[in-house]
Amino acid sequence: MKVAILGGSGKTGRAVGAALAQAGVATRPLGRAAFDDLPAALAGADAVHVIAPNLHPDEPAYVAAVLAAATEVGIGRVGYHSVASPYVPAMPHHLGKAVSEDLVRRSGLAWTIIQPCAYVQNLLPALRSGTLDVPYSVDTPFGMVDLHDVAAATAVVLTGEAHVGATYELGGPALVSIADVAAAAGVTARRVPAGSDVHPWLQAMFDYYDDHGLPTGGVPLAALLGRRPASVAEVLARDLAADPGA
Ligand SMILES: NC(=O)c1ccc[n+]([C@@H]2O[C@H](COP(=O)([O-])OP(=O)(O)OC[C@H]3O[C@@H](n4cnc5c(N)ncnc54)[C@H](OP(=O)(O)O)[C@@H]3O)[C@@H](O)[C@H]2O)c1
Repeated sequence: MKVAILGGSGKTGRAVGAALAQAGVATRPLGRAAFDDLPAALAGADAVHVIAPNLHPDEPAYVAAVLAAATEVGIGRVGYHSVASPYVPAMPHHLGKAVSEDLVRRSGLAWTIIQPCAYVQNLLPALRSGTLDVPYSVDTPFGMVDLHDVAAATAVVLTGEAHVGATYELGGPALVSIADVAAAAGVTARRVPAGSDVHPWLQAMFDYYDDHGLPTGGVPLAALLGRRPASVAEVLARDLAADPGA
C-alpha cells in the first residue's frame, strides 16, 4: 500500500508519515509544489491523506482540488485531517474544515475523517522558554492530544476498511487547562494580550478558547490505539527536552 500525504512536509504530515512508515506503509509526502499538477503527484497511490496548511485562506478549495485529482487518477480511499469542533461559526478556519468535511463525505470516495484537538506539542516552544504565556484564559478545558497519538491513529484508520465512513473526534485522555499543562511542566501559566499583528482568524480562535476552551473526548482515540492515549505529563516527559528540530 502507498499513501500520498498532502501537507506531508509539515508538522502534522511528517508525524503521519512516520506513523505510516512504522506500520510498514510506503508514503509519498507532498508539499505545495504538488498543486502544480495534482493528478501527476497522486498517480499510483492507493490512498491519499489530506492535511491543509495552517490557516489556509480557502481550505474547501484546497480539499476540493485534492478530491477531484484523486477521483481522476482512480484513488478510492481518502483520509481528511479536520479539527475538533469544526462547526464553530465564530472560528473561520474551523468553519472551513466543516465545509471541507461535507465535500469529503459527498466525494464518492471511501473516506475517513479525523477531528483532533490541539496538540500538546504546540506548547513546547513556550514551555521551553520557562513560562506558558497564552492570549486566552488559562482555566478553560481542552482535550489536548499527543500529535504522535493522532498520527498513529491516522495510520490505523487509513489501513483498515472498518474505518470507511467514520468520523473520529481525537482528544487526549483527560480534559486539561493551560494552567494544568504549565503545572505538569513546573512553570507558570499567564494570560497575556495577543500581539497587535495577530491573524484575525487566530484572534477569533483565542476569543473562543477564552470563553469555551476546546473540550474534546478521548474515547475514540483510545479505541483506535488499543491503549490509553498519552497524557500531557507523558508527552512532556518524552518531548520537552527533545531536540526542537526533530
Ligand atoms: N496544531 C494543532 O494543534 C492542530 C490540531 C488540529 C488540527 N490541526 C490542523 O492540522 C493541519 C496541519 O497543521 P500543521 O501545523 O502540520 O501545518 P503546517 O506545518 O503549516 O503544514 C505545512 C504543509 O502545508 C504545505 N503548504 C503550505 N502552504 C501551502 C499552500 N499554499 N498550498 C499547498 N500546500 C501548502 C507545506 O508544503 P511546503 O513544504 O511545500 O511548504 C507543508 O507540507 C492544519 O489544517 C491545522 O488546522 C492542527
